[in-house]
Amino acid sequence: MSGPGLLIGLDVGTSGARAVAVDLLGNVVASASAPYPLSVPRPGWTEQDPQQWWSASQDVLKRVVLQLSDPPLALGLTGQMHGSVFLDGSDHVIRPALLWSDQRTESQCRTITEKVGAARLIEITGNPAITGFQAPKVLWLGEHEPGSYARVRHLLLPKDYIRLRLTGEFATDASDASGTLLLDLNRRQWSDEILAALEIPRAWLPEVFEGPDLSGRITPAAASATGLPTGLAVAAGAGDNAAAAVGNGIVREGLVSSSIGTSGVVFADSATPRIEPRGRLHAFCHATPGRYHLMGVTLSAGGSLRWWREAMDGQDYEVLSSLAARAPAGCEGLVFLPYLTGERTPHLDPRARGAFVGLNLRHTQAHLTRAVMEGVVYSLKDSLDLMEEIGVPVTEIRATGGGSHSLLWRQMQADVFGRPVHRVDNEEGPAFGAALLAGVAGGAYADVPEACSVIRLHRGVEAPDAERHRVYQGYHAAYVEAYKTLAPLMHTLADLSAS
Ligand code: XUL
Repeated sequence: MSGPGLLIGLDVGTSGARAVAVDLLGNVVASASAPYPLSVPRPGWTEQDPQQWWSASQDVLKRVVLQLSDPPLALGLTGQMHGSVFLDGSDHVIRPALLWSDQRTESQCRTITEKVGAARLIEITGNPAITGFQAPKVLWLGEHEPGSYARVRHLLLPKDYIRLRLTGEFATDASDASGTLLLDLNRRQWSDEILAALEIPRAWLPEVFEGPDLSGRITPAAASATGLPTGLAVAAGAGDNAAAAVGNGIVREGLVSSSIGTSGVVFADSATPRIEPRGRLHAFCHATPGRYHLMGVTLSAGGSLRWWREAMDGQDYEVLSSLAARAPAGCEGLVFLPYLTGERTPHLDPRARGAFVGLNLRHTQAHLTRAVMEGVVYSLKDSLDLMEEIGVPVTEIRATGGGSHSLLWRQMQADVFGRPVHRVDNEEGPAFGAALLAGVAGGAYADVPEACSVIRLHRGVEAPDAERHRVYQGYHAAYVEAYKTLAPLMHTLADLSAS
């Protein structure tokens, strides 16, 4: 690593935008966040206005730039994956973006599977058609809003819309592009075969770069909107999970992160594109050029606890955590299924629904709260188990995301996984990883692994307790059975609530 400089990372997240400035030793020297709302026009639909992302991005960038003593060296972008930004020929947003958590596209997923062929789709993209991914959203627009569809000239992912506003360039990176269902995983470029099958014009799509590549430079207009210097290098960046993984140093095989944010993500680095035959793990490009990653996603992880917190009259998380700590492991026979917004890994089931199973008269708020937290960890364990089934080496697990700030939740992961759980110091999430990618684009680091050498492991490690692990093995097995038994009923209830 060489030369002076500050790196900026910008995360266009689901609950808000966040910018951080980092020095070349990985110290965070400034940060700013700005929230924006999530719109749920119907059950299962989630949307956001890209203009709100842009307003919040300008705001957080301006606030971070004001705190800097020296001009930054480069900016890196990251953001929520899979969202669909539809632009017309004048680059205007046509309608609100459909988000990663949106579940409206079940029928379009079937169409894609029929048109491309189930096996061929997984062979090319590494993944089956999944409701939250970008391609089914394009088909949905064509079927339900043909007037809007006729105006589409560009299709972008959330952070790439912000890149357009900052640099004037239509560009993306291979990790985020992997979540569209339009990318050829081996070639790391758009698949002409899939584009032809779905009749999506190649010209709508941005150019695909590797994460640390230079994707453009700050325009004079963006400079006056954000305070960033005109001409500042903008790295391609990464989807939020790949960027967070870079920030946690998950850039060699054996390292796995377990994240509890709104969604929960188990993320493993892979030198080659390993594919779970039924597509129950996402197989995506990593932000490191030429490398891959596997990912299991729990749609409502922290989101389940947030839901429960609202049901508990908005108690704060510390109160909930100490309440949960009063109940024993396994909650005396209570299991929670966290499928509040359907589930991806391992069920790929948009009509899965949440459940408390095993309630009895002994159960108090403490048990129910702990059961919600345990259910989320059982779901992460499902992803970890699938990874091990397909031969992904797991030598070290690092807890990350907002949920990792809870000692109870970290210990639960160690106990349910039966493995020590580590974490890194100064965990700053995806924006920090995006800043490290910017450091490579700006020439401060030779490559992504060198950038990750600034990451320090926290000295404390949560070790699994053998007795609790034994208890949890029984409960995890019951959790797995509960979904199998309840799935038909969940579907009936989902259908009844939709009609
Ligand atoms: C990953 C996914 C979520 C979003 C959240 O496939 O859908 O983790 O990226 O921002």
